[in-house]
Parts: sequence; C-alpha cells; structure tokens
Amino acid sequence: MNRLPPTLDRTSAMHLEQVTLRRGRTQVFEGLNLSLPERRIGVIGDNGAGKTSLLRVLCGLDTPQAGTVRLHATDIHAQPAERPRLVGLMFQSPDDQIIFPVVEEEIALSFRTRTSCSKQDALAQARALLERHGCAHWAGRAIGSLSQGQRQQVCWLALKAAAPRVLLMDEPFASLDLPSQSRLADDISEAPQHILLSTHVLAHIQNFDRVIWLDAGRVRADGRPHEVCAEYEADVAERTAARRALHAGSAHA
Ligand SMILES: Nc1ncnc2c1ncn2[C@@H]1O[C@H](COP(=O)(O)OP(=O)(O)O)[C@@H](O)[C@H]1O
Ligand SMILES: [Mg+2]
Repeated sequence: MNRLPPTLDRTSAMHLEQVTLRRGRTQVFEGLNLSLPERRIGVIGDNGAGKTSLLRVLCGLDTPQAGTVRLHATDIHAQPAERPRLVGLMFQSPDDQIIFPVVEEEIALSFRTRTSCSKQDALAQARALLERHGCAHWAGRAIGSLSQGQRQQVCWLALKAAAPRVLLMDEPFASLDLPSQSRLADDISEAPQHILLSTHVLAHIQNFDRVIWLDAGRVRADGRPHEVCAEYEADVAERTAARRALHAGSAHA
C-alpha cells in the first residue's frame, strides 16, 4: 500500500530531499525523500525509529549533513531567520521547551516574537488565551508547580500563540489525561496550520490525511491512516508473538 514515489513538489508545506542525518555516531537518515503537502500528517514507529529526528530536521534544530529541507518553498537551513514565522516545535518534554518561570510569561514570549508588541500587550494576550482555554487561573502560576501534562498544555498554547505556518508536535498526547487528550485532538482539528505529529496513541490520527510509519530511519509504510496503523499493529503483534514463543521455549529448556 506504499505510495508511488511522490512527485517532486518543492513548494509543498514540508519537503525533504535526499536528507542524510547523523546524530552522534548514529546514522539516522540516509537520502530521505518526503513531500508533505497534506494538512494533517501522523508519524508512527518504535522508539528510536527517527520520529523526533524528523521533527528536529524539519524545524531546523538539527542540520542534515546532506540534502535540503524546505518549508513552503523556503530552505530553512539556508535561511534560519525565516524559521519563526514558518515553523514551531512542541517538544516531547515540556522542560526542553519552556524558558520562563511563570506561565503567562512563557505564552507572552510567543506573542512578542510574532508581533513585536509591548510586553504588557503580550501578557494581556497570553491571559486572554489562557482564559479561552479554561486555564485563566494558571496565568501567574510557577511552571514548576504544574504537572507534566499541564506543562505540556502550556507548550501547546505557546505554540498556538506563536502561530507559525507549520506546527510540529512530538508525542503531544503522551502525558495528557483522557479529557486533555480529547481537548488537544479537537484543538488540532480546528487549527488552520499544517500539522505533523508523532504519536503512539494511534486513535488520535485516524482522521488525519496521511500517516507515515518510520522504521530505523526509513519509511516502512505511507498512506491512509487506518491502513498504515493496521500494518504497524500487525507487525507489533507478530514481533510480540515471536518474543513470547522464544521466551516460552527458553523457559521449557
Ligand atoms: N542526541 C543524540 N545523539 C546521538 N544519537 C541520538 C540522539 N538522539 C537520538 N539518537 C539516535 O537517533 C535514532 C533516532 O532517534 P529518535 O529520532 O529520537 O527516535 P524516536 O523519536 O522515533 O524514538 C536512534 O537510534 C537514537 O538512539
Ligand atoms: Mg522521539
């Protein structure tokens, strides 16, 4: 069910061409080609498959040793000044993302970066956003006093406030309780931007336009969500059965 090789559309929202990436001693990608014009794209795969690396390359945090990455036709590694308006990343761990000690200051930073408004204006917009999200009481809270899931929600609001054209989200559902997962899923479906997110919670990407299964830095399957997710789940079931059979065999030996 893998797609035919994508037409080389360098103007699509996200486009990687012949991307080779090493992180430390690990060869993560070798000549990776992906044209990503869809508005909602999910990325799945085992730990270590390259999901985070893909997001980091797409937002310019990691520079490939070879190849190009274009967002809306702009080479983001050649033109780093364009990045803030083009792309934002919601990190898997909120502590890698959050800079300020207080919630409203963190969100205000996004408004200031986007519009160069005054600090007071930015704080007012941050409070208004928190209120719309039903979290007005978080405004003056110390980040350190929030739970991991609450901090993740602050990261989402900061990303929304920055409003770049492409939103990248690294396992955004991982620490959220069920009501917060539904809320985030609704927010995602309403966001006007292009969104690419990695997740192990496959239910939340079933209504996406496209899902990519990464396996050891390669695209193992790419296409409609229910087909790609089913293929991945079948592979996991097969590996689990093989592991259990091996375990049972060695227990009886
Ligand atoms: N900072 C790092 N330095 C060296 N290798 C790394 C680093 N981060 C990740 N890797 C390696 O890169 C590969 C892809 O990792 P990653 O993109 O984090 O996968 P995933 O997000 O799918 O779990 C793995 O083999 C991992 O061990
Ligand atoms: Mg990861």
